[in-house]
Amino acid sequence: MKIVLLGYMGCGKSLIAKLLSDKLNFNFYDLDDFIEEKEGLKINQIFEKFGVIKFRNFERKYLDKILNKDEDLVLALGGGTPCYGDNMKIIKNKTISIFLNTKLNELCTRLSKEKENRPLIKDIPNDQLKEFIAKHLFERIPFYEMSHYKIDATSKTPDQLVTQIQGLI
Ligand code: S3P
Repeated sequence: MKIVLLGYMGCGKSLIAKLLSDKLNFNFYDLDDFIEEKEGLKINQIFEKFGVIKFRNFERKYLDKILNKDEDLVLALGGGTPCYGDNMKIIKNKTISIFLNTKLNELCTRLSKEKENRPLIKDIPNDQLKEFIAKHLFERIPFYEMSHYKIDATSKTPDQLVTQIQGLI
C-alpha cells in the first residue's frame, strides 16, 4: 500500500507522514528530501541553479521512482507536486492520496517562521505573505481536491491527524 500526503507548504505533510509511517511500519519518503539527496543540492540551490521548470522535472522523475518501488510506503509530497503535468493522475492511480487542509491563518503563522528553504516564499516580506498564500492556495486547491480524501488539519495535533488517517485507510 502507498499513502501520499499532500497540501500547501507548511500543512505538516512531512511530520505527519513520518509519524504515520512509524505507526504502520511502512517506509517513509519525503519528496523534497529525496530530490536533495539524489541531486546533492538543497531545494533552494536547485531553484537557483536550474530554475523552477527543471525543479518540476526533477519532482516528476523522483515521484515516479518512489511510486514504482515495490514496497509499502508513506510519501510526503512537495506543496506544488500535485499541480504540475499529470502528477495527480498517477498519484491517484497508484496510491491512496490524502489532502491535509489547513486554514490560511495557520499556514501564514507557520510559514512566516519557516521560509528559509522554501524558494517560492523566502523573499516575500511577512506583511505580504498572507496575500501571496491566499492567491497561491486558491490556484492550487482544485488539484489538492482531486485527492481520495481530504481532512481538516487546522488546530489538530499530529497524533490526532495520524489516528484520523488510520481510520480512513
Ligand atoms: C513547493 C513546496 C516545497 C518544495 C518547493 C516548492 C511548492 O515543499 O517542494 O519549495 O511549490 O509549494 P513543501 O511543501 O514541503 O514546503
